[in-house]
Amino acid sequence: EKDIEGKLPLRGKKVLITAGPTYEPIDPVRFIGNYSTGKMGYDIAAEAAAQGAEVVLISGPTHLQLPAGNITAVNVVSSQQMYEACHAHFDNADVVIAAAAVADYRPAVVATQKIKKNEPGLMLELEKTKDILASLGERKKNQFLIGFALETENEIEHARQKIKKKNLDLIVLNSLNDEGAGFGKPTNKVTFIDSQFNEEPMELKTKEAVAKDIINKIKKHYNV
Ligand code: CTP
Ligand code: CA
Repeated sequence: EKDIEGKLPLRGKKVLITAGPTYEPIDPVRFIGNYSTGKMGYDIAAEAAAQGAEVVLISGPTHLQLPAGNITAVNVVSSQQMYEACHAHFDNADVVIAAAAVADYRPAVVATQKIKKNEPGLMLELEKTKDILASLGERKKNQFLIGFALETENEIEHARQKIKKKNLDLIVLNSLNDEGAGFGKPTNKVTFIDSQFNEEPMELKTKEAVAKDIINKIKKHYNV
Protein backbone atom coordinates (compact mmCIF):
# COMPACT_ATOMS: atom_id res chain seq x y z
CA GLU A 1 0.00 0.00 0.00
CA LYS A 2 1.09 3.54 -0.65
CA ASP A 3 1.60 5.67 2.42
CA ILE A 4 1.60 9.09 0.79
CA GLU A 5 -0.15 10.74 3.72
CA GLY A 6 1.70 8.71 6.34
CA LYS A 7 -1.48 7.14 7.63
CA LEU A 8 -0.53 3.47 7.73
CA PRO A 9 -0.61 2.15 11.32
CA LEU A 10 2.93 0.72 11.48
CA ARG A 11 4.60 3.67 9.77
CA GLY A 12 8.02 4.31 11.35
CA LYS A 13 8.11 0.93 13.08
CA LYS A 14 11.09 -1.30 12.32
CA VAL A 15 10.22 -4.98 12.26
CA LEU A 16 12.84 -7.72 12.21
CA ILE A 17 11.56 -11.11 11.01
CA THR A 18 13.34 -14.45 10.79
CA ALA A 19 12.01 -17.03 8.35
CA GLY A 20 12.69 -20.36 6.72
CA PRO A 21 14.90 -23.28 7.69
CA THR A 22 18.61 -23.25 8.40
CA TYR A 23 21.04 -25.60 6.70
CA GLU A 24 23.87 -26.92 8.87
CA PRO A 25 26.82 -28.13 6.79
CA ILE A 26 28.17 -31.69 7.10
CA ASP A 27 30.73 -31.47 4.30
CA PRO A 28 31.08 -29.32 1.15
CA VAL A 29 28.07 -30.98 -0.53
CA ARG A 30 25.72 -31.98 2.34
CA PHE A 31 23.73 -30.43 5.15
CA ILE A 32 21.20 -31.10 7.91
CA GLY A 33 17.99 -29.18 7.25
CA ASN A 34 14.24 -29.29 7.86
CA TYR A 35 10.96 -29.01 5.95
CA SER A 36 10.24 -25.34 6.69
CA THR A 37 9.17 -23.52 3.50
CA GLY A 38 9.46 -20.04 5.02
CA LYS A 39 5.88 -19.17 4.04
CA MET A 40 4.74 -18.10 7.53
CA GLY A 41 7.62 -15.64 7.94
CA TYR A 42 7.26 -14.23 4.41
CA ASP A 43 3.50 -13.74 4.91
CA ILE A 44 4.24 -11.83 8.14
CA ALA A 45 6.80 -9.71 6.30
CA ALA A 46 4.28 -8.93 3.54
CA GLU A 47 1.59 -7.93 6.03
CA ALA A 48 3.94 -5.82 8.17
CA ALA A 49 5.14 -3.95 5.07
CA ALA A 50 1.55 -3.51 3.87
CA GLN A 51 0.77 -1.83 7.20
CA GLY A 52 3.65 0.61 6.72
CA ALA A 53 6.48 -1.02 8.69
CA GLU A 54 10.14 -1.01 7.66
CA VAL A 55 10.92 -4.71 7.47
CA VAL A 56 14.21 -6.59 7.69
CA LEU A 57 13.62 -10.20 6.65
CA ILE A 58 16.42 -12.53 7.72
CA SER A 59 15.80 -15.73 5.83
CA GLY A 60 17.26 -19.17 5.50
CA PRO A 61 17.11 -20.91 2.10
CA THR A 62 13.60 -20.86 0.57
CA HIS A 63 12.03 -20.90 -2.89
CA LEU A 64 9.88 -17.86 -2.09
CA GLN A 65 9.89 -14.49 -3.77
CA LEU A 66 10.53 -11.43 -1.66
CA PRO A 67 7.11 -9.82 -1.00
CA ALA A 68 6.43 -6.29 -2.26
CA GLY A 69 6.99 -3.26 -0.08
CA ASN A 70 9.67 -1.84 2.18
CA ILE A 71 11.47 -5.11 2.93
CA THR A 72 15.24 -5.55 3.16
CA ALA A 73 16.21 -9.16 2.53
CA VAL A 74 19.14 -10.64 4.43
CA ASN A 75 19.75 -14.13 3.12
CA VAL A 76 21.61 -16.62 5.30
CA VAL A 77 22.19 -20.36 5.27
CA SER A 78 23.32 -21.62 8.70
CA SER A 79 22.02 -20.91 12.21
CA GLN A 80 25.31 -19.18 13.03
CA GLN A 81 24.85 -16.81 10.09
CA MET A 82 21.24 -16.15 11.14
CA TYR A 83 22.45 -15.46 14.71
CA GLU A 84 25.00 -12.90 13.49
CA ALA A 85 22.53 -11.20 11.13
CA CYS A 86 19.90 -10.94 13.89
CA HIS A 87 22.33 -9.37 16.34
CA ALA A 88 23.58 -6.94 13.68
CA HIS A 89 20.00 -5.66 13.18
CA PHE A 90 18.57 -6.00 16.70
CA ASP A 91 19.40 -2.57 18.17
CA ASN A 92 17.57 -0.91 15.29
CA ALA A 93 14.39 -3.00 15.68
CA ASP A 94 11.14 -2.11 17.47
CA VAL A 95 9.55 -5.51 16.92
CA VAL A 96 11.12 -8.94 16.41
CA ILE A 97 9.19 -11.91 15.08
CA ALA A 98 11.12 -15.20 15.08
CA ALA A 99 9.34 -17.45 12.58
CA ALA A 100 12.43 -19.34 11.43
CA ALA A 101 12.78 -23.09 11.99
CA VAL A 102 16.33 -22.91 13.30
CA ALA A 103 18.24 -26.19 13.54
CA ASP A 104 18.74 -27.21 17.18
CA TYR A 105 21.88 -29.25 16.43
CA ARG A 106 24.66 -29.06 13.88
CA PRO A 107 27.64 -31.25 13.01
CA ALA A 108 30.37 -30.60 15.58
CA VAL A 109 32.98 -30.82 12.82
CA VAL A 110 32.46 -29.84 9.19
CA ALA A 111 34.48 -32.10 6.90
CA THR A 112 36.65 -30.09 4.53
CA GLN A 113 36.39 -32.75 1.81
CA LYS A 114 33.35 -34.72 0.63
CA ILE A 115 32.85 -37.70 2.96
CA LYS A 116 33.42 -40.92 0.98
CA LYS A 117 31.26 -44.04 1.54
CA ASN A 118 34.21 -46.10 2.69
CA GLU A 119 32.58 -47.49 5.84
CA PRO A 120 29.43 -49.63 6.37
CA GLY A 121 28.06 -47.02 8.79
CA LEU A 122 28.72 -43.42 9.77
CA MET A 123 28.36 -41.60 13.10
CA LEU A 124 27.96 -37.83 13.01
CA GLU A 125 28.65 -35.96 16.22
CA LEU A 126 26.20 -33.06 16.68
CA GLU A 127 26.43 -30.04 18.95
CA LYS A 128 23.72 -27.61 20.01
CA THR A 129 23.31 -24.44 17.97
CA LYS A 130 22.90 -21.04 19.65
CA ASP A 131 19.33 -20.18 20.62
CA ILE A 132 18.95 -17.01 18.58
CA LEU A 133 15.68 -15.87 20.14
CA ALA A 134 16.87 -16.48 23.72
CA SER A 135 20.01 -14.45 23.00
CA LEU A 136 17.86 -11.57 21.67
CA GLY A 137 15.65 -11.89 24.78
CA GLU A 138 18.74 -11.31 26.92
CA ARG A 139 19.54 -8.13 24.98
CA LYS A 140 15.95 -6.87 24.94
CA LYS A 141 15.38 -3.20 25.77
CA ASN A 142 12.15 -1.80 24.32
CA GLN A 143 11.68 -4.39 21.61
CA PHE A 144 8.37 -6.26 21.39
CA LEU A 145 9.59 -9.84 21.08
CA ILE A 146 7.43 -12.49 19.42
CA GLY A 147 8.40 -16.14 19.16
CA PHE A 148 6.84 -19.28 17.79
CA ALA A 149 6.56 -22.61 19.56
CA LEU A 150 6.17 -25.84 17.68
CA GLU A 151 4.87 -28.54 20.04
CA THR A 152 3.29 -31.97 19.79
CA GLU A 153 2.58 -32.59 23.51
CA ASN A 154 2.07 -30.55 26.72
CA GLU A 155 1.75 -27.65 24.32
CA ILE A 156 0.65 -24.88 26.68
CA GLU A 157 3.14 -25.78 29.40
CA HIS A 158 6.02 -25.99 26.92
CA ALA A 159 5.03 -22.69 25.32
CA ARG A 160 4.93 -20.99 28.74
CA GLN A 161 8.43 -22.26 29.47
CA LYS A 162 9.63 -20.76 26.19
CA ILE A 163 8.07 -17.37 27.04
CA LYS A 164 10.05 -17.32 30.30
CA LYS A 165 13.29 -18.81 28.97
CA LYS A 166 13.44 -16.47 25.97
CA ASN A 167 12.02 -13.35 27.69
CA LEU A 168 9.16 -13.06 25.15
CA ASP A 169 6.20 -10.69 25.07
CA LEU A 170 4.09 -13.02 22.95
CA ILE A 171 4.33 -16.58 21.67
CA VAL A 172 2.51 -18.10 18.72
CA LEU A 173 1.89 -21.72 19.65
CA ASN A 174 1.67 -23.88 16.56
CA SER A 175 -0.26 -27.11 16.97
CA LEU A 176 1.18 -29.85 14.79
CA ASN A 177 -1.47 -32.25 16.16
CA ASP A 178 -3.99 -30.63 13.89
CA GLU A 179 -4.57 -32.00 10.41
CA GLY A 180 -3.89 -29.24 7.91
CA ALA A 181 -1.45 -27.31 10.06
CA GLY A 182 2.30 -26.91 9.90
CA PHE A 183 5.20 -27.39 7.50
CA GLY A 184 4.27 -27.35 3.84
CA LYS A 185 0.59 -26.77 4.62
CA PRO A 186 -1.23 -23.58 3.60
CA THR A 187 -2.90 -23.30 7.03
CA ASN A 188 -1.97 -23.05 10.71
CA LYS A 189 -3.86 -23.60 13.97
CA VAL A 190 -2.31 -21.27 16.54
CA THR A 191 -2.87 -20.12 20.10
CA PHE A 192 -1.50 -16.77 21.23
CA ILE A 193 -0.04 -16.69 24.74
CA ASP A 194 1.25 -13.43 26.23
CA SER A 195 3.82 -12.83 28.97
CA GLN A 196 0.99 -12.91 31.56
CA PHE A 197 0.08 -16.38 30.22
CA ASN A 198 -3.26 -15.16 28.81
CA GLU A 199 -4.31 -17.66 26.13
CA GLU A 200 -6.17 -16.92 22.92
CA PRO A 201 -6.91 -19.96 20.75
CA MET A 202 -7.53 -19.14 17.09
CA GLU A 203 -9.38 -21.07 14.39
CA LEU A 204 -7.56 -23.08 11.73
CA LYS A 205 -6.83 -20.49 9.04
CA THR A 206 -4.52 -19.65 6.16
CA LYS A 207 -1.00 -18.50 6.96
CA GLU A 208 -1.88 -15.12 5.40
CA ALA A 209 -4.72 -14.81 7.93
CA VAL A 210 -2.45 -15.88 10.81
CA ALA A 211 0.04 -13.24 9.65
CA LYS A 212 -2.75 -10.61 9.83
CA ASP A 213 -3.61 -11.75 13.37
CA ILE A 214 0.04 -11.41 14.43
CA ILE A 215 0.29 -7.91 12.94
CA ASN A 216 -2.96 -7.02 14.74
CA LYS A 217 -1.31 -8.00 18.04
CA ILE A 218 1.52 -5.58 17.26
CA LYS A 219 -0.93 -2.81 16.39
CA LYS A 220 -2.74 -3.41 19.69
CA HIS A 221 0.58 -3.22 21.56
CA TYR A 222 1.22 0.23 20.07
CA ASN A 223 -2.47 1.30 20.26
CA VAL A 224 -2.53 2.02 16.51
N1 CTP B 1 14.65 -20.41 17.87
C1 CTP B 1 15.80 -19.66 17.69
N2 CTP B 1 17.03 -20.25 17.69
C2 CTP B 1 17.16 -21.58 17.86
C3 CTP B 1 16.01 -22.38 18.05
C4 CTP B 1 14.76 -21.75 18.05
O1 CTP B 1 15.70 -18.43 17.53
N3 CTP B 1 18.39 -22.13 17.85
C5 CTP B 1 13.34 -19.74 17.92
C6 CTP B 1 12.37 -20.13 16.83
O2 CTP B 1 12.47 -19.27 15.71
C7 CTP B 1 11.02 -19.99 17.53
C8 CTP B 1 11.32 -20.27 18.98
O3 CTP B 1 12.73 -20.10 19.13
O4 CTP B 1 10.53 -18.66 17.46
C9 CTP B 1 10.93 -21.63 19.46
O5 CTP B 1 11.44 -22.64 18.61
P1 CTP B 1 11.12 -24.16 18.95
O6 CTP B 1 11.85 -25.05 18.00
O7 CTP B 1 9.63 -24.33 19.13
O8 CTP B 1 11.74 -24.31 20.43
P2 CTP B 1 13.19 -24.62 20.96
O9 CTP B 1 13.54 -23.52 21.91
O10 CTP B 1 14.15 -24.87 19.85
O11 CTP B 1 12.97 -25.93 21.83
P3 CTP B 1 12.53 -27.42 21.34
O12 CTP B 1 12.79 -27.52 19.86
O13 CTP B 1 13.36 -28.34 22.17
O14 CTP B 1 11.05 -27.52 21.66
CA1 CA C 1 13.75 -26.33 18.11
